Amino acid sequence: MSKAPPLGMGLIGCGNIAHGHAFALRMLTEDGDVRPVAVTDLSPTAVENVRKFCPFEKAAEDGFALIEDPDVEAVVIATPTTTHQAFVEAALAAGKPFLCEKPLATNFPTVQSMCDTVAASSLTTQVGFHARFHALTHELHRLVESGELGAPMGYTLRDDQFWPTGDVVPGHSSWRSDRAQAGGGALLEHSIHSADLLCWMFGPATSVYAKTRHVFGYDVEDTVACTIEHASGVIGTLISIFNGVRGREERRLEVFFEQAALEMTTDFMVGAKEDSFLIQRPDEEAVRFDPAELLEHHLQATGIERRGFLIYLYPAARDFVASVRAGQPGWPSFEDARRAHGLVDAAYRSVEAGAPADVAG
Ligand SMILES: NC(=O)c1ccc[n+]([C@@H]2O[C@H](COP(=O)([O-])OP(=O)(O)OC[C@H]3O[C@@H](n4cnc5c(N)ncnc54)[C@H](O)[C@@H]3O)[C@@H](O)[C@H]2O)c1
Repeated sequence: MSKAPPLGMGLIGCGNIAHGHAFALRMLTEDGDVRPVAVTDLSPTAVENVRKFCPFEKAAEDGFALIEDPDVEAVVIATPTTTHQAFVEAALAAGKPFLCEKPLATNFPTVQSMCDTVAASSLTTQVGFHARFHALTHELHRLVESGELGAPMGYTLRDDQFWPTGDVVPGHSSWRSDRAQAGGGALLEHSIHSADLLCWMFGPATSVYAKTRHVFGYDVEDTVACTIEHASGVIGTLISIFNGVRGREERRLEVFFEQAALEMTTDFMVGAKEDSFLIQRPDEEAVRFDPAELLEHHLQATGIERRGFLIYLYPAARDFVASVRAGQPGWPSFEDARRAHGLVDAAYRSVEAGAPADVAG
């Protein structure tokens, strides 16, 4: 069977995460699945830097012109959070499928409005919860779904990242320091990935009790601790830190099942030294699995022939292109994002109230 012609793609935003998208699009171009048509950014220098990674044919005047370009069949939105809604609405109006970075917006009413608009369309849409594409996370999700360790009872998740704010990280943009632009700190900007993973694993959250701290003195939180209850009955804790330890980017999830305890550590890089996966069953030595073997098994199971890509954006972008080709909904979806944002929103309301807050239904 002959292969479908490559999908004409446009990239809006050429900052930090866009470099990952550009790499992924270049690999998909080499695979014959993508035609990198257009790219845009407020900064021409940023555009030229990204074009060094991926051979986009042209630089569009702005994101709206890019969306309207007839050769652009699908769009990646990788600009700061406050800009997402306008580009999402423009892409919907133009009938162009899109992958939008997380968080969708800085506040939950805007997220709800975006999700409602997307729900009314039949376009392929995907949200940038790339942590879902991690091989170890997939294995944990499989174990939850299969029930082979019994039902999950509770969990503790520690999520930390050296990325307090743009002012602290040399060379990074500074919008993350500003609540008006970022909407929140460690929880919304980073650990919304964890909120998404927890809802994916254990079902929608129903209530959250949270406390935050601002140790570095910015108006976004760098430390948050949450106690979370899920509709499934699972309970757990999430501690999220924007720390000052350069080079540390780690997510550690311990899940207590009826018949086993499981520890999983990941980093956002593929095959990172932090990756580990351990299961302890009753009266047995804990079994530490080889993360490289789990990764290989996962890549083979998902039909990914490439090896040596650095972050999980390649599988995410590959899935997006395949969903567009098949005319299917994207994954993770805007409804997944609504659940993750709902958890985060309840956490922030809990902080304000000094009491547990219900997740909006
Ligand atoms: N999924 C992930 O793991 C992940 C990781 C990092 C960032 N993000 C998200 O991606 C988004 C971008 O983050 P970043 O770290 O790349 O930010 P950044 O500040 O490094 O880059 C943003 C880029 O967008 C450009 N820009 C701003 N407004 C624009 C506009 N109206 N039109 C075109 N370009 C515009 C800026 O000039 C800049 O080059 C944020 O929502 C962030 O939360 C997601």
